[in-house]
Amino acid sequence: MSENIDSLQHESRRFAPSAEFAASAQATPELYIQASADPEAFWAAQARELLHWHKDFTRGLDWTNAPFAKWFEDGQLNVAYNCLDRHVEAGHGDRVAIFWEGENGDSRAITYAELTSEVKRAANVLIGLGVKAGDRVAIYLPMIPEAVIAMLAVARIGAVHSVIFGGFSADSIRSRVDDASAKLVITADGGWRKGKISPLKPTVDAALAKTGTHTVQNVLVVLRGGNDIDWVDGRDSWWHEQLEAAEPEHTAEAFGAEHPLFILYTSGTTGKPKGILHTSGGYLTQCAFTHKYVFDLDAEKDVYWCTAAVGWVTGHSYVVYGPLANGATQVLYEGTPETPHPGRWWEIIEKYRVSLFYTAPTAIRSFMKIGRQIPDRFDLSSLRLLGSVGEPINPEAWIWYREVIGAGKTPIVDTWWQTETGAIMVSALPGVTTTKPGSAQVALPGISIAVLNDRAEHVGHGNGGLLVVTKPWPAMLRGIWGDPERFIETYWEKFDIPGAESRRMYFAGDGARLDEDGDIWLMGRVDDVMNVSGHRLSTAEIESALVSHPMVAEAAVVGAADEATGQAVVAFVILRADQEDAQTPDEASTILRAHVSEQIGAIARPRQVFVVSELPKTRSGKIMRRLLRDVAEGRTIGDTTTLADTSVMQIISDKLTGGVRK
Ligand code: WT7
Repeated sequence: MSENIDSLQHESRRFAPSAEFAASAQATPELYIQASADPEAFWAAQARELLHWHKDFTRGLDWTNAPFAKWFEDGQLNVAYNCLDRHVEAGHGDRVAIFWEGENGDSRAITYAELTSEVKRAANVLIGLGVKAGDRVAIYLPMIPEAVIAMLAVARIGAVHSVIFGGFSADSIRSRVDDASAKLVITADGGWRKGKISPLKPTVDAALAKTGTHTVQNVLVVLRGGNDIDWVDGRDSWWHEQLEAAEPEHTAEAFGAEHPLFILYTSGTTGKPKGILHTSGGYLTQCAFTHKYVFDLDAEKDVYWCTAAVGWVTGHSYVVYGPLANGATQVLYEGTPETPHPGRWWEIIEKYRVSLFYTAPTAIRSFMKIGRQIPDRFDLSSLRLLGSVGEPINPEAWIWYREVIGAGKTPIVDTWWQTETGAIMVSALPGVTTTKPGSAQVALPGISIAVLNDRAEHVGHGNGGLLVVTKPWPAMLRGIWGDPERFIETYWEKFDIPGAESRRMYFAGDGARLDEDGDIWLMGRVDDVMNVSGHRLSTAEIESALVSHPMVAEAAVVGAADEATGQAVVAFVILRADQEDAQTPDEASTILRAHVSEQIGAIARPRQVFVVSELPKTRSGKIMRRLLRDVAEGRTIGDTTTLADTSVMQIISDKLTGGVRK
């Protein structure tokens, strides 16, 4: 991305909603007015309007034990019932919930009635395996309908799912299973990816075979890949056999609004991933609200498609809970965008007449790179709204998205949020907001966002600072699994300063600027967290994977700007003295890139590994990542005066000149 934030702000193109779109849009300017008058009452009204409550609530927000929030606490609901049964009972049983497209060309259309009955059977299977309300179930599946069914079945019986992205390694699975003390793992033999079967169960087997005791009693295996797998008698069983044998009926029981719904692990500034905890009523309210108004959903007419995998929060909120709570019809696709040909996504949009499409800037940029001749071959005229999420979308990509994919007429919603926020927080509202390419724009109705300096003062229009959520919101995280102290430290202490409202403001970790109109421009992370292809990775986590290799003495990782992925992982390593002559730097780099991939998953594999003899450190021993980032991005090295040894950077950059491999 070539633009810096100052030039971005001078982006002068404006796209006002068309009169036609505005006339039938779900969102209206009144939403902002209603919400600002009384945000709590606004959310309570949304909760009642958008969801079915087995027992109504009498309280909105309880913030007395801040920062541990409770929303609608004395209300009761069943999340799966809200996503399934009630639509069938309302006469929409024949509506397609999921148009599933396998990468290999398989497809399945699943109605709400069918999805409901599969989830009921799956719920009975879980109960049969001894899973009880509150128990944790790990899910490691490809993008197949069973992933959605498994999540909803877990939710239906009040258990807690921890979905693990299918690209993560055995070590990553094991640490997540252990942290959550999961009782059951649901996986598949394998799934289709890039034209071949990518095995999953062997990775789960390897995770559970690692030394030390674990809490997993059973592994439930979906048959998808047909690949050979090992079997542990007494532990493993086939999903399809269990479902076939299960009772078909299951009545959804109501749980409290604050009953835990899921844990989702995300990277932080330390090596240990954080288990972000979300609960039921507030989360589902904000998912349903945002899905309806940000995507302008008409559940009877639209075909919606969010390309995110269920293993990320976008898959939780905008593949599973938001769309299904709203009774939407959606596409679910198993594979990669370029398989078997680079027009695969556009072919799917044409096939299902997709009208609302939600994807990530990294994907848009990779399509831009191969050129418009690919999407131009398909009929994309069904599209009427496009969304973006995961990282800042540069104006060039924004314009390309609108012109080439949206035929120059679709509104674009750039949605800012996080695993922790649970649902969209900042976005244009289609039909209402005049959009600016590159800006996520304004807080949604009912959400309070500010850009503050270190002293918790508003920076004011035209200035940059830290993005802060100043009031609790319904889908907010309720904690970090098993670590309340880390929860407080990470998000609530930054602005816990004398004179400011104590522990009441949420620090998101992002830098942002307000333009002259007060619109928000995201500037990326301000901590040691990278954003690679819209996914968060921590420098510390990758550094600890690197130093776990016997060859490595020390490692420093930075995120460097990358045209395709937004940021790319770049590592600097010092080899152990006895290793220095054992292999060439190129060999070391190959070995270490593969090692990180094995330890964490392919997503974390460094783009480059540089073997160096020193790392730039301050006198107190802190690695100066800023300087390494300069090297990684090919810039002149910045101020080195605080370095303990100022010659280090010269040595590093001399050594790397010409040695930079892409
Ligand atoms: C981080 C959260 C939200 C689901 C996907 C990522 C960055 C996210 C935007 C956006 C600029 C964005 C932020 C945020 N981010 N959306 N529209 N514009 N930056 O979820 O893994 O929890 O990452 O992604 O840096 O903090 P996540």
